[in-house]
Amino acid sequence: MLHNIEITVNGKLVKARVSSHMRLLDFLREELDLIGAKEGCGKGECGACTVLVDSKPVNSCLMLAVEANGREVLTVEGLSEGDSLDPIQQSIVDNSALQCGYCTPGIVMSAKGLLLRNPSPTRDEVVEAISGNLCRCTGYARVIDAIMQVSVSSESQDKGSER
Ligand code: FES
Ligand code: FES
Repeated sequence: MLHNIEITVNGKLVKARVSSHMRLLDFLREELDLIGAKEGCGKGECGACTVLVDSKPVNSCLMLAVEANGREVLTVEGLSEGDSLDPIQQSIVDNSALQCGYCTPGIVMSAKGLLLRNPSPTRDEVVEAISGNLCRCTGYARVIDAIMQVSVSSESQDKGSER
């Protein structure tokens, strides 16, 4: 069965006709060519597919595209502006907090979700926020450092430099 859906993806309204069983992850990757969200486990355990739905991190492998109807989806592609990376992305680069990078978009989106609801998280809150994102190569210390640096800088700079 096919359904008409309207989803705001990275700030743009997208209208589409999708099957009942199409996952949000596949809709983003296959229909919209937004391949930042990755498929790791396909069953909600690795977080590689994390996107924000109405500003909350969601495993897009566990959500149907029809369930996102009428909602706002933000993927990693929606974070940068031109050549300018989101501060979280930049901090991950600056801290050498990635190797293969497969997990990175998911981690960035989990961190983004955290910082949207809590701009100055504690280290424990950062650990908790990315606890559903598995990384096979880098480990987590640098990733946590990178997110903490953004939270500190957002504390001091946010008011004046919000884009
Ligand atoms: S691919 Fe979605 S949680 Fe692993
Ligand atoms: S950087 Fe390779 S899985 Fe995390």
